[in-house]
Formats: sequence, C-alpha cells, structure tokens
Amino acid sequence: MMKRFALVMTLCLATSASAEQVADVWKAKCKSCHGEDGKAQTKMGQKESIVDLTQPAWQKAQTDADIREVIADGSPRNTRMKAFKDRLTPQQIDALVGYIRTMKAK
Ligand code: HEC
Repeated sequence: MMKRFALVMTLCLATSASAEQVADVWKAKCKSCHGEDGKAQTKMGQKESIVDLTQPAWQKAQTDADIREVIADGSPRNTRMKAFKDRLTPQQIDALVGYIRTMKAK
C-alpha cells in the first residue's frame, strides 16, 4: 500500500517538474533556431526557411508522432534539424511535443 502511494507521489512530482522544465529545455536547445515563440524569426530560421510552428495549418498537418519523430531522429529534409534522442530523455521529447502544441496561434 505504501509502495503504491510512493509511486503515485513520484509520478506526480515528475509530471509537474517536467511541465516547468520544458520551457527551459526549449530555451536551451531549440530557441536559437526556432525562436522563443516557435515562429523561427531567427538568423537560422530565415536562412533555412524553418516553418513557423505556431501556424494552425502546420499544427493540423502534424500528428504528435510526427513531431516526436522529428525531434528524436532529426529531419530527413534538413540536417540542421538534428536528432535529439541522445541528448533528451523520451519524457523531455514528449514534453516538447506538448509545448509545441501550446504555441499554436489562435
Ligand atoms: C541548429 C538549428 C536547430 C535547432 C537547435 C533545432 N532545430 Fe528544429 N528545425 C531546424 C530546421 C532547419 C528545421 C526545418 C527542417 C525541415 O525543413 O525539414 C527544423 C524543423 C523542426 C520541426 C518541424 C519539422 C517539420 O516537419 O516541419 C520541429 C517540430 C522542430 N524542428 C523541433 C525542434 C525542437 C523541439 C528542438 C529542440 C530540442 C529543435 N527543433 C532544435 C533547426 C533546428
């Protein structure tokens, strides 16, 4: 019984911590190319014509699995978008997918 309680507590803590940390991961690892807001108004964004991640049409065309795959394995179209699977945990990658979803323009 205590064991189960401890597990639930650990899961709760892990979830709330990752919600706060995902913004930091974005700032540390993604912002330099994609911009703080995901619109890619950066030097690299312009040079490589990086898609505006806030666009509703782009958001609609991607499944969570698509976004996850690009972050984990990199883009097959542009090697500037590197594979992050060795640098981020699966939980961090999932959190980033959720974070990108929150960027969608209204
Ligand atoms: C060195 C620059 C750079 C960094 C850092 C970078 N990206 Fe990218 N990203 C790109 C480029 C360039 C593309 C465009 C790839 C393409 O056209 O296929 C891209 C595309 C994407 C796409 C859209 C792919 C598509 O299907 O259109 C997503 C989602 C994405 N990046 C997420 C991230 C996340 C999350 C991070 C941080 C963990 C990150 N990127 C870090 C350069 C970068």
